Amino acid sequence: MVPGLFISFEGIDGAGKSSHIEAVAGLFRAQGREVVVTREPGGTELAEKLRALILNDAMDPLTESLLVFAARRDHVQRVIEPALSRGAVVLCDRFTDATFAYQGGGRGFDLLVLATLEQWVQGRGQPAGALCEPHMTLWFDLDPGIAAQRLAGARVPDRFESQPAAFFAAVREGYAARAQAAPQRFVRLDAAQERHKVWQQITSALVRRGWLAIMVSATGGGNAIRAGS
Ligand code: TYD
Repeated sequence: MVPGLFISFEGIDGAGKSSHIEAVAGLFRAQGREVVVTREPGGTELAEKLRALILNDAMDPLTESLLVFAARRDHVQRVIEPALSRGAVVLCDRFTDATFAYQGGGRGFDLLVLATLEQWVQGRGQPAGALCEPHMTLWFDLDPGIAAQRLAGARVPDRFESQPAAFFAAVREGYAARAQAAPQRFVRLDAAQERHKVWQQITSALVRRGWLAIMVSATGGGNAIRAGS
């Protein structure tokens, strides 16, 4: 059986990640892979209820962090781990890097507490210290000013989307720190580029990992990309 593959999509609100997730799913499905598209906070019935609280109800940063990790626990146990065991490709719209970026960077909450919660929630026991975490994280990196322009008037903002620019600058710093700590896992995408150029960056990253093959079409005109096994 092919091993499971776990890819997360990250970035500040308005960076444009969500629109690419289904396209990546399509690449893998075309290859005959089972694909699970999911999100955080959320992804299970319980975690979606917690999401509604996290996005809408006032709370302190510790409560927020505990709820985010509680939702993640349910999601990892019920959806992510079983899917990976079946050999599926899991595409997750945000995962733990968002907690380090938003609660750690944005809210200024204690990173050591977050790291402890990460071990509790995602620890696999064997080998010691091993975590359930993405094989690759696509980080849509964007200047908060540009992101705010993209979001303006799009819809009623939630508790995070309504934060000032300084909050998103700190969130961005939080992502940068996580990327620096895990350079093999993180792929930084320049999300300021046009949509099709961001897509090219994504497919290049998948090709570099050996998860997509480049096929030169029979006519010799242009390259097609397909998901690799
Ligand atoms: P988002 O993923 O942007 O969904 P949508 O596209 O529907 O707005 O919204 C989730 C929000 O939750 C986002 O603002 C970031 C925040 N968040 C955290 O603060 N911590 C976390 O650990 C996660 C997963 C998300």
